[in-house]
Amino acid sequence: MRVVDLIVKKRNGLALTGEEIAALIRGYTAGNVTDYQMAAFCMAVYFQGMDLEETSHLTMTMANSGDTVDLSEIPGIKVDKHSTGGVGDTVSLILGPLVAAAGVPVAKMSGRGLGHTGGTIDKLESIPGFTATLGREEFIKQVNNLHLAVVGQSGNLVPADKKLYALRDVTGTVDSLPLIASSIMSKKIAAGCQAMVLDVKAGSGAFMKNVNDSIKLAETMVSIGKKVGRETVAVVSQMDEPLGNAIGNALEVEEAILTLQGHRPGPLRDLSLLLGAYMLKLGKKVNTLEEGHELLTKLLDSGEVLQKLAQMIEAQGGNPEVINDLSLLPQARWKKEITSWKDGYVKIKDAQNLGLAAMLLGAGRETKESTIDLAVGLKLHQKTGAQVKKGQPLVTLYYNDEDKIPGVLKIIKESLTITEKRIASLPLIHEVITCQGRENPGKLFTLNEHFV
Ligand code: URA
Ligand code: CA
Repeated sequence: MRVVDLIVKKRNGLALTGEEIAALIRGYTAGNVTDYQMAAFCMAVYFQGMDLEETSHLTMTMANSGDTVDLSEIPGIKVDKHSTGGVGDTVSLILGPLVAAAGVPVAKMSGRGLGHTGGTIDKLESIPGFTATLGREEFIKQVNNLHLAVVGQSGNLVPADKKLYALRDVTGTVDSLPLIASSIMSKKIAAGCQAMVLDVKAGSGAFMKNVNDSIKLAETMVSIGKKVGRETVAVVSQMDEPLGNAIGNALEVEEAILTLQGHRPGPLRDLSLLLGAYMLKLGKKVNTLEEGHELLTKLLDSGEVLQKLAQMIEAQGGNPEVINDLSLLPQARWKKEITSWKDGYVKIKDAQNLGLAAMLLGAGRETKESTIDLAVGLKLHQKTGAQVKKGQPLVTLYYNDEDKIPGVLKIIKESLTITEKRIASLPLIHEVITCQGRENPGKLFTLNEHFV
């Protein structure tokens, strides 16, 4: 088969067979299909789309394009979680120990941060001594002992996606639903999970700004999961403001620990419990979402989840005392408080910009090669809908480089305003999509005012 015939077939709106997709992707990964042909193909997909059959073939061909992780030596159903990326999103640090404490194995591969979003591995590395580099044997052994290990990506996982994503980035073809969905799903499947819970973010701080686009992406990924035998649940959650209050590596570890100590009610805790409850359900630990939620709430409030985090930190070379003494985390030299300039209600206009402000302070990477400062970042004292008085603290900056401050202050002033008119706080969950269809967790149990 000639590559040009496949491009023309897709350009004309016809569906490719599994063999045709496999030939194209394997050829591209091996360097036998050129960038210009693949770029033309991606543009054809951008305009003509792909049906579920094609998207599922694309996902599995990509998943098998390089190394795959074999977790079969770990008993139980391996459920993974993935977030499409947000700001102040420390869910993984809470969710891992939460689900592990309930006895469901968490064998997690995580990434590093880029741009306005942070990465779990960077955050964990702010714990003194912690290493995210474990050999395969060690990794499996630790999961079998503790039900929990978090490591950085190793090996040649999904090379087809690495190459394709870079090509899409420079050819205007990132924003294609089948290409995004297969890119995300292929990486999770290659990492060895049997089921997955997806946190699909929607809003100003998310990859997808629009809620309906996020719901479509969620539905596509759940359909792929069902088709390829990985039960998938997607929670579409609000990312118009940072999820937690902290943005920055050590600051987010601190927030995760405070949440596990039970001191931090709010959306970060709520979303972690919801995603965790779905993980227990997919892992067949519980029969219903409510049962999962109840079990996790009990474990969290008992302090067992915090102990689980400490065990993982110790097993991976870190100082577990950090859970009792937050001053062991890297500390920025200086702090600066931004206070409200008038009475009114807080409105966060742009969550991505708040992430970029933290990045400029040194908490994130502008390019893959940038080095980061684990101590710096910012804390939001108030989020959208909060009533404030003039002079009340809104944001605290933690920094080591004074030269960055003027630029950061400018971004922050543009990212939030104080309105005179009362505004509501933002609902956390837009939609939950399961293999059985849409589901409203707000109807299943009352969590708090975030679930409206
Ligand atoms: N994230 C991914 O991993 N892949 C995409 O294509 C888009 C977002
Ligand atoms: Ca998340």
